[in-house]
Amino acid sequence: MAERIVLETARTILRPFQITDAADLYEFSRDRRVADAAGWPAHKSVADSQKVIVAVFSAPNTFAVVEKGSGKVIGSAGFTGAVRGAFGPSDEIGYALHPDWWGRGIMTEVVAELLRFGFEDRGLEAIWCSHYTENPASRRVIEKSGFSYVAAETVVDDNGEHLTRFYVLLRQQWKGDGHG
Ligand SMILES: CC(C)(COP(=O)(O)OP(=O)(O)OC[C@H]1O[C@@H](n2cnc3c(N)ncnc32)[C@H](O)[C@@H]1OP(=O)(O)O)[C@@H](O)C(=O)NCCC(=O)NCCS
Repeated sequence: MAERIVLETARTILRPFQITDAADLYEFSRDRRVADAAGWPAHKSVADSQKVIVAVFSAPNTFAVVEKGSGKVIGSAGFTGAVRGAFGPSDEIGYALHPDWWGRGIMTEVVAELLRFGFEDRGLEAIWCSHYTENPASRRVIEKSGFSYVAAETVVDDNGEHLTRFYVLLRQQWKGDGHG
């Protein structure tokens, strides 16, 4: 069985999803502001969220973002498994947060820990991230996290066609920024 990885930030615990997280997951994944920006079909029921936990969020290096104190699952964040570029071992970060928690720097805090985990614990050489051009909040998270813009491409997913901006952060750049 794969190792159960648990990470921690100042305000959150990042741990594997469990089926009992479905009600919390549904609370933000039913919201079109979250689903449309993340490229998912909006969840239609708690049962739908249970299915997503089993089919999608049980993948390795995929985490429930749990608020410390309340124990509530307020987001999802992790690595999608997408491999891009020719920089050596790489992966791509994806994330979504319950709108009630937006604008407090939480996802930037979570991404910082995912970068540490990816470069230090997983030995990645490059970490990618992307956002639809019409998603300025995600763009800011990516910029604040130190990624460099690479290119824009049209991507087709569950929510149609979107011009998507791709960014990369190399281990050496991350270390040069005073990490590791
Ligand atoms: C993207 C998302 C995870 C950001 O989470 P968050 O915890 O609110 O992010 P942070 O607070 O760390 O940073 C958000 C930044 O975006 C800025 N921002 C938010 N809305 C904005 C807008 N409409 N225009 C410009 N900037 C905006 C905030 O001011 C902040 O930047 P600042 O620190 O320079 O002020 C959250 O908005 C979300 O879940 N969105 C829906 C799902 C999604 O987009 N997933 C990513 C797909 S690529």
